[in-house]
Amino acid sequence: MYQVATVLLLAFSAATRALDNGLMKTPPMGWLAWERFRCDIDCDNDPQNCISEVLFRDMADRLAEDGWRELGYVYVNIDDCWSSKKRDEQGRLQPDPKRFPGGIAKLARYIHGRGLKLGIYGDMGTYTCAGYPGTTLDTIEMDARTFAEWGVDMLKLDGCYSNSSVQEQGYPLMSKALNATGRPIGYSCSWPCYQGGLPPKVNYTVLGEICNLWRNYEDIQDSWDSILTIVDWFTDHQDIIQPAAGPGHWNDPDMLIIGDYGLSMDQSRSQMALWAIMAAPLFMSNDLRTVSSGARTILQNKVAIAINQDPLGIQGRRLIKEKSEIDVFWRPLSDDASALVFFSRRTDMPFRYQTSLKTLNYTAGTYMVYDVFLQKIQPTLKDTTNFVVSINPTGVVMWYLFPTTVRQEEAEPVRFTKMLKRIKLYGREDYADSLTGL
Ligand code: GLA
Repeated sequence: MYQVATVLLLAFSAATRALDNGLMKTPPMGWLAWERFRCDIDCDNDPQNCISEVLFRDMADRLAEDGWRELGYVYVNIDDCWSSKKRDEQGRLQPDPKRFPGGIAKLARYIHGRGLKLGIYGDMGTYTCAGYPGTTLDTIEMDARTFAEWGVDMLKLDGCYSNSSVQEQGYPLMSKALNATGRPIGYSCSWPCYQGGLPPKVNYTVLGEICNLWRNYEDIQDSWDSILTIVDWFTDHQDIIQPAAGPGHWNDPDMLIIGDYGLSMDQSRSQMALWAIMAAPLFMSNDLRTVSSGARTILQNKVAIAINQDPLGIQGRRLIKEKSEIDVFWRPLSDDASALVFFSRRTDMPFRYQTSLKTLNYTAGTYMVYDVFLQKIQPTLKDTTNFVVSINPTGVVMWYLFPTTVRQEEAEPVRFTKMLKRIKLYGREDYADSLTGL
């Protein structure tokens, strides 16, 4: 009897702690203001780029009209510097009245009207990182209710001006408070960023229960160096963080900076490929009003997105790091498919890398190979056949592979039809229809 009661009690406490919103079964995708627009609040002199409702409406228009939404990029996320420096008379957070004169609820309606979702930013501490009001332990429930009343769909909760005891209590409490609103609100926790130590002293089991995604590491900046530092950190710690990812709970290496100023086209393909194979959330932080067609083509690559969005939700791993020149990543996908990324760190000339699928741990058999960025079927490969890939400096070659027992002409349409059906399951019919032409 006592045992039954204990079991029931345990089950109950787990149920109340767990984030129970059914969201983000595949990594979330969308747009996030921070890396590109920072804390520009100078609307008098820079009205198009300052953090204001204009910017978020503009980005919503672009996502809805330029083919992003159909690919899954549906979140429009506000970051820091949106709020007034003071809470309102009832103690509630409120937006800056000059920059968000219509209020957040009205902005949410605008964004929902375009088939998109709205994300907002808060901080589990006294102030946000840029010095705006934070959420303290006594305002958690009120802030969760405020966000829900406004119609917010996602919350990024940062951890500046805080300490470990506040965070240990606050992050799970916010998870509960979001649940209690009854509105499904995706929950992005910056908690691990603020827990130091090597290896990082983070309880990923708890994180996976209370958050949909979490920032593991430092902020991305608009540079290739920044990407390399993040990729190195993620791969050096992959034994710890890779098992933590899965449907509904993801590691977040931070925003996509493709379309900004810091990356070449090859480096942009590298970020897309690496983020896709790592099952990372895909939040672009760029100016969708002026993004180049080259960057757009990379960000809208349907097979890279389908790999990122694979329903098994297994984060890829680095299999090989050779001579500080080449990394090979592998990710298992549903229906026995898989993805490979050959990533070259050389900067002087294309790297010709010779290997075989057998060397990369593939089981005996024959494989169909599709080159994701060339958008071409490659010759069928036996596991034992040696092949050479030529990888541009700081670039990638990305493959989608699946085993085949039938002839190439038959295998290809069957496999892609399966992939399309899967995408249809996510409710992205337009996306699936346009892929049929592959
Ligand atoms: C921290 C976060 C960033 C961004 C800024 C805003 O640095 O890691 O992603 O939200 O705060 O001030």
